[in-house]
Amino acid sequence: MSRQIPHCTIDGPSGVGKGTAAKWLATQLGWHLLDSGAMYRVAGIAAEQAGVPVDDPAAVADIVRRMKVRFEGDSTTDHIALEGRDITADVREESAAMLASRIAVFPEVRDALLHAQRAFLQPPGLVADGRDMGSVVFPEAPLKIFLDASAEERARRRCRQLRQAGMPAILADVLTDIRARDARDRGRKVAPLKAAEDAVIIDTTELTVDAVCDRIFSLVKDSGLTSVVS
Ligand code: DC
Repeated sequence: MSRQIPHCTIDGPSGVGKGTAAKWLATQLGWHLLDSGAMYRVAGIAAEQAGVPVDDPAAVADIVRRMKVRFEGDSTTDHIALEGRDITADVREESAAMLASRIAVFPEVRDALLHAQRAFLQPPGLVADGRDMGSVVFPEAPLKIFLDASAEERARRRCRQLRQAGMPAILADVLTDIRARDARDRGRKVAPLKAAEDAVIIDTTELTVDAVCDRIFSLVKDSGLTSVVS
């Protein structure tokens, strides 16, 4: 079934802009969007709200299996509800990102989220963004893209994004957080952040968002993934 439904994975480190690119691409193609980072963030929030120690893999995985989460919207994940409560703003906080990165090191937690992530693969197609979309969750994806950029440039982008969303952001603090998350995401034993062997790597350090989107769109067209793309 997965081979018949067109899909494209976009992986990369924190703050590289893969969320923006993935959302743009999903909208262009009219495909579904999986923001897997949001799933890990929700999982972290759910564990914290349940009063479970976030360093207890079995307990966190248990909460993750039982949590009732709803991603609302079509090719976007603009509204996220946990147990019926809107947690969209909480999910975007840096504290949620840090929590997500901590629980994401546990294989039990990753396993608990695997089925839910694969369930996003529905017609007419899927753009999946995260750290291990191409390497673990959708290894058969016909097109895999890995976006990269220097930590400094990613910190600048993240600061801009936070400030635009009305949240305070200090560049030095954001850079420290990004480096800590990089170390954890790249260094973990299970599904570490790395480009799949067959991924196309794009260094976006010197590229504008528009230029990145153009490159991705060309790759989609060249891959013959969809005849709808003209
Ligand atoms: O993409 P993001 O910043 O929202 O992700 C938050 C954290 O979730 C990230 O630091 C690591 C984890 N994550 C992961 O381990 N695997 C994914 N596919 C997506 C996110």
